[in-house]
Amino acid sequence: VTTCLILAGGKGERFWPKSRTNLPKQFLNISGNKSMIQQTVDRLQKFIPIEQIFIITNESYAELIKAQIPDLSNDNIIIEPVGRNTAPCVGLASIIIEERYPDSSMIVLPSDHIIKNKDEFISILKAAVEISYRGDSLVTLGITPTYPETGYGYIESTNQQIEVGNHAAYKVNKFVEKPDEITAKSYVEAGNFYWNSGIFVWRVSVIRNYIRELMPQMHDLLETMKLSFENAFKNEVIKSEFPKMPDQSIDYGIMEKVKDIYVIPCVLGWDDAGSWTALERINDLDEHGNAINGNILSIDTKRCIIESNGKLIATLGVEDLIIVETDDVTLICKKDKAQEVKSLIKELKVQK
Ligand code: GDD
Ligand code: MG
Repeated sequence: VTTCLILAGGKGERFWPKSRTNLPKQFLNISGNKSMIQQTVDRLQKFIPIEQIFIITNESYAELIKAQIPDLSNDNIIIEPVGRNTAPCVGLASIIIEERYPDSSMIVLPSDHIIKNKDEFISILKAAVEISYRGDSLVTLGITPTYPETGYGYIESTNQQIEVGNHAAYKVNKFVEKPDEITAKSYVEAGNFYWNSGIFVWRVSVIRNYIRELMPQMHDLLETMKLSFENAFKNEVIKSEFPKMPDQSIDYGIMEKVKDIYVIPCVLGWDDAGSWTALERINDLDEHGNAINGNILSIDTKRCIIESNGKLIATLGVEDLIIVETDDVTLICKKDKAQEVKSLIKELKVQK
């Protein structure tokens, strides 16, 4: 059986002010006419039945998930009492999935990525699942890097290759999460490094073993939770034990430390839609390189990203700006500051 875990607890702060604390990026239509999480679920159609799809999120987003994915059973929405980053998400989900689908393979997907080549995506996931059953490897999907992004993980492949259907997978030499810029540059130049797409495939028993070995404290907490699955206090135990979990990502907690990893290089039209500048890569640009959406009048305006919410936005003689208007906020930001939009949120006293 193949199951899927969708991680949907992120705050999407770099997409403020469209992405808000009560309605973060994954629940918005950033590209296309469905929300990012709806598109994530849709993409799995014909491969994973809805009963085998689980979504993990914070309590405050459970209702949004029910509203946006009405076919998903409540039993498949996993609630984390507090955000502890992705390693505890995978940990908690692994014991819940293990209970329902004991010998399953588990695909871990972010809820807020754009993938254009949908058929290729499914074909690669199938190959990854097959590898996960051949041995005890963790499988990653690698993207050819085009610039030294420091916000991604990097995967160094060896030339030890295995064939799976039409795809090739390579044994991984090392996994490095978010290197500094100089290191990232050397990786991009080296040619045998891939960006970590954030999509992982493994058998649930295999990841449980790695958690036991590499994150023993989390393992013990998971065992305590698992014991409660037979009684009526399941949710109470999760509520009391989960906050004790280490605040760590799966990338730092597990991926960087494991030796047995394969990477499948893939061309997916993938974008992690991290910040406003993603819109330039995703959308068609006008003849001056602007990515515009909505009611906009622009003269002598170059390489800007502009989103109107109905009200006319008129620009004249500006370059390299991000302009986003919502009901209650207008953001004006230089494009090269897109990563720092978060810092505005920190300063806000009231509505985020
Ligand atoms: N439920 C839940 N709880 N989900 C979470 C939490 C949490 O505490 N924290 C993050 N997520 C979700 C986010 O919504 C996102 O879909 C996914 O987990 C990954 O988290 P990010 O916070 O976006 O990770 P990142 O972008 O810094 O890095 C990861 O993704 C990159 C590619 O986009 C890493 O895997 C990198 O190695 C990778 O290159
Ligand atoms: Mg991300």
